[in-house]
Amino acid sequence: MCGIVAYIGKKQASPILIGGLRRLEYRGYDSAGVAILDKNIKRIRSVGKIDNLAEKIKNQDLSGNIGIAHTRWATHGGVSEVNAHPHFSCDDDLVIVHNGIIENYRELKNELLTEHNFVSETDTEVLAHLIEKYYQGNLKEAVTEALSRVRGTYGLVAMHTKEPNKLVAARLGSPLVIGVGDKEYYIASDTSPMLAYTKNVIFLDDGEVAEITPENLQIFNLQSEAINKNVEQVDWDEAQAQKFGFPNFMLKEIYDQPIVFQDAIRGRYDLDGGTAHLGGLNMTIDEMHSIKKIILLACGTASYAAMIGKYAFERLAGISTEVEIASEFRYSDPIVGRDTLVFGITQSGETADTLAALREAKRKGAYIRGIVNVVGSTIARETDGGTYIHAGPELAVASTKAYTNMAAIMFLYALQFGRLNRTSVATGQRLLAALLEIPEKMEIILKQSDKIKTIAEKYKDNKNFFFLGRGVNVPVALEGSLKLKEISYVHSEAYPGGEMKHGPIALLSPDFPVFAIMTKNQLYEKMRSNIEEVRARKAPVILVATEGDEMAKKITEDVIYVPPTMELLEPLLNTIPLQLFAYHTAVSLGRDVDRPRNLAKSVTVE
Ligand code: G6P
Repeated sequence: MCGIVAYIGKKQASPILIGGLRRLEYRGYDSAGVAILDKNIKRIRSVGKIDNLAEKIKNQDLSGNIGIAHTRWATHGGVSEVNAHPHFSCDDDLVIVHNGIIENYRELKNELLTEHNFVSETDTEVLAHLIEKYYQGNLKEAVTEALSRVRGTYGLVAMHTKEPNKLVAARLGSPLVIGVGDKEYYIASDTSPMLAYTKNVIFLDDGEVAEITPENLQIFNLQSEAINKNVEQVDWDEAQAQKFGFPNFMLKEIYDQPIVFQDAIRGRYDLDGGTAHLGGLNMTIDEMHSIKKIILLACGTASYAAMIGKYAFERLAGISTEVEIASEFRYSDPIVGRDTLVFGITQSGETADTLAALREAKRKGAYIRGIVNVVGSTIARETDGGTYIHAGPELAVASTKAYTNMAAIMFLYALQFGRLNRTSVATGQRLLAALLEIPEKMEIILKQSDKIKTIAEKYKDNKNFFFLGRGVNVPVALEGSLKLKEISYVHSEAYPGGEMKHGPIALLSPDFPVFAIMTKNQLYEKMRSNIEEVRARKAPVILVATEGDEMAKKITEDVIYVPPTMELLEPLLNTIPLQLFAYHTAVSLGRDVDRPRNLAKSVTVE
C-alpha cells in the first residue's frame, strides 16, 4: 500500500514525480504529496486523488532537481492533509516518504515526545523524528541508526537540506526499485514511474539502504557494509501502460485479454508431445514425481484463479490440490512437507499475506514457487522458481487480465505434471488445441459488450444479486460477484448452484436477480434445475449460456452466449461477460471504476 516516487538528477523533479504518482495511484489514493529540495524544502500535499494535488501545484513555483512524493492508503491516522506524506522532522530540514507500518511507533513516539513536536497521527512521522534525533551531518548514517530501532516494515526515501544533493532510500518488506539513468536516478515502489526514462533498474532487497547522488549510487546493509548489486533490464514498456483510447484502464485491461493470453502461453507448450514446459518450475522429474499435494496460496481475485487451477491439477495430474486464502494459511497449522508444492499466485507479487504464507510453507520444507505478474517483485524473487504470467501492467484496481493469465499458467503447469502420470498425449494435445482457440473466442465475447451494457443498465438499480455456477464455474460465479462488489458497491453473493437450496434461497424475491452460468457441460442439467428453483421464486435470471442453446432463451431474454470450449477451460471465457457486467453496472452508477473506494491494488500490509 502507498506509492513512493523520488527523483534526483538534472531534470525538473516535480513533473516526473506527479507523473510517477499517477502510475502508482493504484497503490492508494486517500491523499498525496510532494516535496522538492532547492536550498529549502517546499512541500505540497492534498487529500484525495493525484488530480487534486496536480491542481494545487499548478500555480506554485516548485522548481528543483531533487524531490520525493507519495500517494497514501491510510493505515495509522485518518485521511487528512496533516497525515499526508511527505512528513517533516521538527525543523523542516528533513523530510521523508514511507510505505509500510512501524509497529513500535507508540513506544518510539513516547520516547521522542519530550524533545520533538509531533503534528500528525502517523507512524511515519515518528520515523522522521527518529532520523532527526540521530542526524549528525550524515543522512545515510542517521537513517541506518534509526532503522535499527524500528520494528515493522518500510520502504522509505529521505532528504535533508544540509546534504542538498542526496537521497537516502531503504527497504524492509515494502518494495523499492531504483531506475538508473545518465547522472540521474529514479526511485519508486515499482518500475512503472520510470519506464518512460529508463529500463535499467536495481531492485532493493530487504535490509538495504541506498545513498544516492546524481553521480553515484551506493548500497549498504544495515551494518553499513557496502553491497554490490546487479543492474537488471525490465521489458515492460511505457506504451503498455497507456489507455489507448479506452475511457479507463479496467475496460482496456478486459480487452487486453485475448492478446496477453497468447503472451502467457507462447513458447511454453509442445504440441507434438501434448505437454507444457515451464522451465521456471525448477524441479527434476524425480522431484515432480515426489509431489503428493499442491497448495495454491492467494488473496482476492488471485484466489479465484487458484480455484480454477485446483480443477486443472486434480483432473489432469491427479494431485490433491488445496486453495488456501493466504491470510488464513499463515496463522493456521498447515500440513505441508517435502512432498508438497506450494504456488504463491499474485498479480503484484507484493501481497503481504501471500508473502508471509509462502515463507511459512518454506519454513516447513515445501517447494515454493511463484505465479506472478510484476517482474522483479518480492514474491517473484523470494520463491525458488515459478513463472511470470505476462499480463503486462495491470493498473485498474479490480483485476481482470491477470486472473485469466494466472489460470492459463496453471493449466500449463497441470498439463506438465499430468503428462508425467495420468494425462495421455491425445488429451494433452486436445487441451493445447483448445487453449490456442481461447483468444479468438474471447474476442467473440468482447464484441457483445453493448448487449451486456444493456442488461447491466436494466438491472442497475437492484440492490442485491446472486451469482451461481457449478463445477468449474463456481470460481467464475465468485469472481463475478467480487467484481460487482468491488467496482459498483452493489451487494452480491456467490454460491455453487446446488448449495442454494440449503439456505440462501430464502433471500430470493422478484427484486433479487440471479446471474447464472449455465454452459453446456456435464453439470448442465443440474444447473438448469437450480435455475428452475430460482424462477419458481420469481427472481429474474441472467444467463451465460453456450452458443446455440435455445433453451436458455426460453428461460430469460437476458442471455449472453459464449462459444463452446473444453469444460475445464470454460472459466477462461465465462468470466469475461461477468467482468463486463460489473464494469457496465459501475459505469452506469457513476462509479470510478479504476479506483474504487476503500481498495488498493497492492496490499502490502496485513
Ligand atoms: C487486493 C486487490 C485485489 C487483488 C488482491 C490480491 O485486494 O484489490 O484486486 O486480487 O489484492 O492481489 P495480488 O497482487 O496478490 O494478486
